[in-house]
Amino acid sequence: MKIVLASNNQDKLREVREILSGTDFEIISQKEAGIHTEPEETGTTFEENARIKAKAAMLASGLPAVSDDSGICINALGSCPGVYSSRFLSDFSYPEKCERIMKLLEGATDRGAHYAAAAVIVFPDGRELSAIGVCEGEIAFEAKGSGGFGYDPIFYLPEYGRTMAEMTEDEKNAISHRGRAFRELAKKLV
Ligand code: IMP
Repeated sequence: MKIVLASNNQDKLREVREILSGTDFEIISQKEAGIHTEPEETGTTFEENARIKAKAAMLASGLPAVSDDSGICINALGSCPGVYSSRFLSDFSYPEKCERIMKLLEGATDRGAHYAAAAVIVFPDGRELSAIGVCEGEIAFEAKGSGGFGYDPIFYLPEYGRTMAEMTEDEKNAISHRGRAFRELAKKLV
């Protein structure tokens, strides 16, 4: 089944394609579906935003559309930036954002954080399915690794002794919020 991924984020597209490889779902990008606009993310939860993006892509393409809305929630920052993760410190590059987060956490006793992702699929007949995935970790004291994207160099996984950016793509997909959400969604779809 052809499904549009309602995102222009190439990193997400690569990860979702890899996560769903081996299933009957063929993920095509928004661009491939001829969609050149993105709706405003006005929701206050990952699930609301994922639904907004999936619905817009489904209406624009006439195809089933799936969306991932995700972010990093940091305990010491009251769970921020959360749904605002991509808009947080938007004038800065990700290495700069990572440095700033580590600076904000200087002296913090709780370095706990989690990644969260909501995956929502919307069909042209109005049916809808959703799934949530979470990955627990900590904010590292030093950025490390070159894999993944975004905040991965400072997202430390204590049980692996490495940051997410030091994991291989397969290792990340096996434990990530996105991997968990999309595998759960694929189960529900079958
Ligand atoms: P969205 O495209 O509105 O869902 O924003 C997701 C944002 O959350 C990304 O742009 C990153 O800032 C952050 N994020 C989500 N998932 C990951 C991940 O797997 N690694 C690193 N950063 C992530």
